[in-house]
Amino acid sequence: MTKDLQPLSVRLIVVPAVVALAVALVRGQQATPAGTYTKEQAEAGKAAYQVNCEGCHRPDFQGDQDAKPLAGSSFLNAWRGKTSNDLFTRINKTMPPDTPGSAGEEDNLNIVAFLLQANKIPAGTTPLTHESGVPIPATTPASNRR
Ligand code: HEC
Repeated sequence: MTKDLQPLSVRLIVVPAVVALAVALVRGQQATPAGTYTKEQAEAGKAAYQVNCEGCHRPDFQGDQDAKPLAGSSFLNAWRGKTSNDLFTRINKTMPPDTPGSAGEEDNLNIVAFLLQANKIPAGTTPLTHESGVPIPATTPASNRR
């Protein structure tokens, strides 16, 4: 019964605020579903990497001349705080430099999975998608470090 004694003005502020917060939470989750990649994707990505990227970025991911490293501390340092989606977009739009996007979106997605694996980010059961936002950590996850 006390509810009915609340001044109308309070309800006018509190109710929309709660609704807005709930909407923001739901939207936030939809906008950045972290997700993972699967071992199968990384496996497919390895083959695509060998065909499309390895010539410049090398089998050990450390790059050559201008081609930057794609795994290890300097890569993580450059990409920390970004996500698999940022990496996918960058690759899809700019790599290889002379024919951007030529590997195709599906292979580029698999290549991102392969690069996550190369950076020791653990695989999971949820496949990587164009919307996935798997976070790129500042350092190799401690549990996977050797
Ligand atoms: C002909 C050589 C060449 C090939 C092939 C190539 N790259 Fe690159 N890549 C470069 C060069 C040079 C740069 C640095 C210039 C730039 O950032 O555009 C670079 C930069 C990058 C970066 C940005 C790294 C950073 O930290 O900023 C990513 C990611 C990348 N390449 C991924 C790929 C992937 C994935 C493929 C295969 C689909 C690929 N590249 C194929 C030469 C190449």
